[in-house]
Parts: sequence; C-alpha cells; structure tokens
Amino acid sequence: MDFKEQVVVITGAGQGIGQATAYAFAQRGSRVVVNDLQRETAEATTRTINERGGQAIAVQADVADEAAVRAMFYQAQHHFGAVTTLINNAGYVPFLPLMDYTAAIWDKTMAVDLKGIFYCVQAAVPQMERRGGGRIVNIASVHASATLPGTSAYAAAKGGIVSLTRTLALELGPKHIRVNCISPGAIETDALKAYFDSLPPEESEARRQYLLGWHPLGRFGQPDDIAQVALFLCSDQAAFIHGSEIVADGGCLARLF
Ligand SMILES: NC(=O)c1ccc[n+]([C@@H]2O[C@H](COP(=O)([O-])OP(=O)(O)OC[C@H]3O[C@@H](n4cnc5c(N)ncnc54)[C@H](O)[C@@H]3O)[C@@H](O)[C@H]2O)c1
Repeated sequence: MDFKEQVVVITGAGQGIGQATAYAFAQRGSRVVVNDLQRETAEATTRTINERGGQAIAVQADVADEAAVRAMFYQAQHHFGAVTTLINNAGYVPFLPLMDYTAAIWDKTMAVDLKGIFYCVQAAVPQMERRGGGRIVNIASVHASATLPGTSAYAAAKGGIVSLTRTLALELGPKHIRVNCISPGAIETDALKAYFDSLPPEESEARRQYLLGWHPLGRFGQPDDIAQVALFLCSDQAAFIHGSEIVADGGCLARLF
C-alpha cells in the first residue's frame, strides 16, 4: 500500500519520536491523525504539517481511556476514511526505585505503555479489515532487553510490548495486518532529558558522558532515526517483516562490557 493511500494514527505525536513520525508520514502524502494527551502540542504538530501542504488532524485523547480511544478512531474514520496504519508511540516513564513505587504509579505506567496499545489495536483492526489489511508498529524500547535501576515498571511494560507484538502478529497476520515493534535506544527527546534531570545535578553530566560512551556511533539517536524505521516497516519494502522487534540503538546493546 502506497503511503498516499495510508491513513495513519500516531499516538503521543505532539513531540519527540511521535512528532517526527507524523512529519515523515505526512511528507510522503499519508493522511495523519496526530494524537496526544496535550492538546496544544498535538495542534501545533498538525498546524506545521498542514502549513507544509500535508493533511493532518489533531485529536486530544488519553490512550489509557478506552472511550476516548474509541472516539478518536471514530473521528479519524469520519475525517479521513478507515485507518490503515497505527503507530503506538505514546509512553510514560517514571524514574524511581521499585521500593519507592506506589500502586498508582505502577498502574499508570502499565495503563499508558501497555493497555493503551490494547485499546488502540481493538479500535483500529475493524477499520483496517475494511481496507483489506493494515500495519501496526509498536514503540517498545531497549529496556525490553537490558535496563537500568529506577525503570522497573517501564522495562516490564516494554518487555510486554515485544511479547504482545508477537501474539498480535499471529492473530492479525491472517487479516493481512502486519505487526512489528521498534526498540529505540537513547533518543534525544524530552523523555531522555527527564531521565538526566531525575539524577542529582552533580551526577547528570557524568551519566550523560558515560551513556554516550556505550554508543559505538558516538551519539544518541534523533527522533527522525526512529521515524525512518517506522516508515520502512509500513512500506511495501517490508512486506515480509512481521512479528519482529527492530532494535535501533546505535549499537548500544551490542556491547557486553
Ligand atoms: N527517548 C528515548 O530515549 C526512548 C527510548 C526508547 C523508547 N522510547 C519510547 O518512544 C516513545 C516516544 O518517546 P519520546 O522520547 O518521544 O517521549 P516524549 O516524552 O518526548 O513524548 C511522548 C509523548 O506522548 C504523550 N503522551 C504521554 N502519555 C500519553 C497518553 N496517555 N495518551 C496520549 N499521549 C500521551 C506525551 O504528551 C508526549 O507528547 C515512548 O513510548 C518511549 O517509551 C523513547
């Protein structure tokens, strides 16, 4: 399916990786639904796309709210026709030791990072079936494979996304819906900044340099590095890639010590 035929819902697209992905699809002629919890950032992203000659609408919705997700997909179909492509990107990451967690923080992480995907997939699949197939890309993380202290719920949720991607591939493949996930490494967005800001000021810069040293390419990723992988997975060039985890981490996970 050509990008011009795709109607793409991208969650958490008001900034960061989601925003870069929205720009990348719009540039290729897809109709893009820019979702975010923050109305202003979703609208600003949409404005930029439309000013550049693309086609986008903003939909403020919390992916952890089933009714809001259903309303978003209804709005998407009403505006652009049935959805063909879903990028599950919205994420929440608290940084604190497990012993300091409350049940509420744990539940919020699972609700946004994992249950939100369940709600979005359930709402999207009937529309994709009407289009004869679709593509789903879930944004997981290298934290599914190797992690850091202070990220327990996030790492558990991201590991869950990789597993969920495989189950969805088995269930949705017969409907011609391809499902894959991307595990980004450290990407320079507000989420990475929040990690460094969560550390005592005297540790923050040292930690940044230490983590950079783990990257054989000598840099952190940029949001567009991940947007390009999402584009590829939704292109016809990736027609036989299904149920896969694509790691895009600048070589970080390749290192043993
Ligand atoms: N930045 C990294 O280093 C990195 C690494 C690996 C994985 N990821 C994953 O990539 C995705 C995007 O990360 P980012 O760095 O661009 O983050 P970001 O914090 O810059 O952007 C996330 C966006 O999601 C939105 N959002 C949060 N909760 C939401 C909800 N309940 N409903 C709808 N929107 C919501 C936020 O408002 C924000 O605009 C996340 O799933 C994250 O876990 C990021």
